[in-house]
Amino acid sequence: MADMMWAGRFSKKIDDTVNAFNSSIAFDGRMYRHDIQGSIAHATMLGDCGIITKEDSLQIIDGLKDILSDIDSGRLELDPSAEDIHMFIEAELTKRLGDVGKRLHTSRSRNDQVAVDIRLYLRDEIQEIYDLVKKLAVALVNMAEQHTETIMPGYTHLQRAQPVTFAHHLMAYVFMFLRDLERLQDVSKRMNYCPLGSGALAGTTYRTNRKQTAELLGFTAPMANSLDGVSDRDFCVELNCALSLIMTHLSRFSEEIIMWCSWEFKFIELDDAFATGSSIMPQKKNPDITELIRGKTGRVNGDLITLLSMLKGLPLAYNKDMQEDKEAIFDAVDNVKLCVKTFIPMISTMKVLKENMRNAAARGFINATDCADYLVKKGMPFRDAYKITGTLVAQCIEKGLTLETLPLDDYKAMTELFDDDVYQAINLETCVCERKSEGGPSPDAVKVQIDIAKKSLDI
Ligand code: ARG
Repeated sequence: MADMMWAGRFSKKIDDTVNAFNSSIAFDGRMYRHDIQGSIAHATMLGDCGIITKEDSLQIIDGLKDILSDIDSGRLELDPSAEDIHMFIEAELTKRLGDVGKRLHTSRSRNDQVAVDIRLYLRDEIQEIYDLVKKLAVALVNMAEQHTETIMPGYTHLQRAQPVTFAHHLMAYVFMFLRDLERLQDVSKRMNYCPLGSGALAGTTYRTNRKQTAELLGFTAPMANSLDGVSDRDFCVELNCALSLIMTHLSRFSEEIIMWCSWEFKFIELDDAFATGSSIMPQKKNPDITELIRGKTGRVNGDLITLLSMLKGLPLAYNKDMQEDKEAIFDAVDNVKLCVKTFIPMISTMKVLKENMRNAAARGFINATDCADYLVKKGMPFRDAYKITGTLVAQCIEKGLTLETLPLDDYKAMTELFDDDVYQAINLETCVCERKSEGGPSPDAVKVQIDIAKKSLDI
């Protein structure tokens, strides 16, 4: 049975099952570095403010640094029966330093300790995710540059709609990921306030210096209210929202890749290193990575619901329910990193089957709007032009023709405004090149988009 630090008030030791149930070290152990970082800042401040002696402060800091390097090197293993990482490190410090170690927790609570640890931990994770998403956006911009003239059908309702280019399609995702980057920065900014010094909930009677600890830990400022300091987990929710959106974007992209590598589309071919086979069907090459990403999106969204549901009924300030925050947000963070890390090389190595994209674009009357626009440019009101083109499409379907192969006589039978130049106007290359409007698919318009993205990515 574990000997708890808070044992004084109790006449019995904690039941083993309860201890195992209560303990969070299995999942908060990963914050050991940040816990020590927070404790070093706290000990420094205690020494500087004369709350403990300078000597004790320095000894505590050295002791904490030793513990850090011992955990890093594997010399010190986390004790799975400890209540949490905070208790484990404090107990270890006291084991090593005796009474001096016991002074570290002066004017501090685990409530502000855990609040600061999660923020420090997530700050590092956000940076890592930011770098990964940025890398993904850069990879997509590089791909887009190769495909400004690769014509493919654009879809609405998954029906062929109007011609776009593969670059145009890729750039749509780039702008989603750019927003994701902005969101991560935004979360970081709001999260970067320091709860340390809030104490258990009601601050402290010691003359502490919260500005100093905030500064030492790289926070913008101390949190303004101690009750909020220990009970706020908005940043976990906000981060999980940002992560859910990253996953949503990856998942929509994944869904497209799954379709694109089916025989029905065959717009792309995944590299063999990024696909899997079947245990029974020898011909299969499956896009498992993208399916897993699509699947994991549900799980990351689940983490968000876990956090929101956990928080919604909690009275101020700290409640043990909040211990449930970590598994949720850590799961979201871990899975987003895994997904982006796998997605980048998968997408960068896939083969783009331009011919198939072009052939798909040639079927499905995706130049019908252009045919109507041709008449509009010759003076016809759009609604009339729309109707005539619809009739022509119906004729083509009946005759097994396309707008490109429909004889001029059939065009002229509808209106004398049609001339030989209609074939040039409905040519797919023309249809794409003429879509020069800002944000559109013409090669020039997409180059502008690429420039905007490059500027924002600093490349
Ligand atoms: N393991 C706890 C958590 O993750 C640390 C804070 C414990 N505070 C307390 N008053 N029991 O939330």
